[in-house]
Amino acid sequence: MPRKSAQLLTGMERLTTPGDWLEFAVTLYETHKLALGQIATEAHDEALYLILHTLGLPMDSDERVLAKKLTAAQRESLAAVFHRRVIEHTPAAYITREAWLNDLRFYVDERVLIPRSYFLEIIPELGMEAGSGDPALHFGLERKKVRRVVDVCTGSACLAIVLAKHFPQAQVDAVDLSPDALAVAKINVREHGLESRVTLHRSDVFDAVPLVLYDVILSNPPYEPSAHCDQLPVEFTREPRLALDGGRDGLDIIRKLLRQARDRLTPQGIVLIEVGGLGPAMDREFAALKPQWIETADGSNCVCVIAADRLQTWCG
Ligand SMILES: C[S@@+](CC[C@H](N)C(=O)[O-])C[C@H]1O[C@@H](n2cnc3c(N)ncnc32)[C@H](O)[C@@H]1O
Repeated sequence: MPRKSAQLLTGMERLTTPGDWLEFAVTLYETHKLALGQIATEAHDEALYLILHTLGLPMDSDERVLAKKLTAAQRESLAAVFHRRVIEHTPAAYITREAWLNDLRFYVDERVLIPRSYFLEIIPELGMEAGSGDPALHFGLERKKVRRVVDVCTGSACLAIVLAKHFPQAQVDAVDLSPDALAVAKINVREHGLESRVTLHRSDVFDAVPLVLYDVILSNPPYEPSAHCDQLPVEFTREPRLALDGGRDGLDIIRKLLRQARDRLTPQGIVLIEVGGLGPAMDREFAALKPQWIETADGSNCVCVIAADRLQTWCG
């Protein structure tokens, strides 16, 4: 057994309850400097999720389950899971093969980015309800009249699926360059029973997507500058580089997307793009498009909206 692994497992016999494991795991996250931010930002939350998942317990379990005595088989299963997380730095979602967005479960594995997009808080606010007030993010769209939507850079298809559920009358195209990602997307579209409304396309942005006009073009593209991708913590290097690397300045896919979006929007259509830390660069390069930044709960405001009329008069 490798030395690090043997050290990790030393003293495991004294971990007789899930609560013991939780306490132990949290110290391991610190001592082994595990990177967080893929499914949780706190070690406690991620470790608790792994423990409950491994033991087959519901995520809303009562605190009392933490004091229950574990069987030998359960202890071994927990040891195997934390070996992968702590010694191998495997991201938690790749161990459990799932990611949750609100109450929706998605299958994930190493072929796709682990879903964690700001669009989760934005999509539910998009479009007004017929005859009702004026939600902040309606942009002239009426939710039940939205007919065509596209999720470019779809990965696991998580956002395409959230879009299909939010816009009940819409046909949704979901585009990705990676055949591996599309294989995972296919699983999720089937599991959510959306094969008749979500169509997968293998394409470099819109290159191979039939020309139709969309009410909403949405994208969480790769936007990390390449040099940044070379320095990521191990956990993030386990995600596909194609999902993260946006080229020298991070803007490669965004530039192509905006140029191609021009001919693919209805007159009232909008483009929504998540850009990470590229807000100032976007404002400089695409000033003529007047990107509007949407406020997010944590104040990072890294999703912008661009209206069709701006794009159509743009000479970029
Ligand atoms: C940041 S991930 C987003 C995945 C998913 N939408 C999400 O939010 O979890 C970016 C995705 O873009 C895909 N991709 C990279 N370059 C692309 C391109 N030129 N055209 C289409 N998709 C691309 C990657 O394969 C990856 O699945």
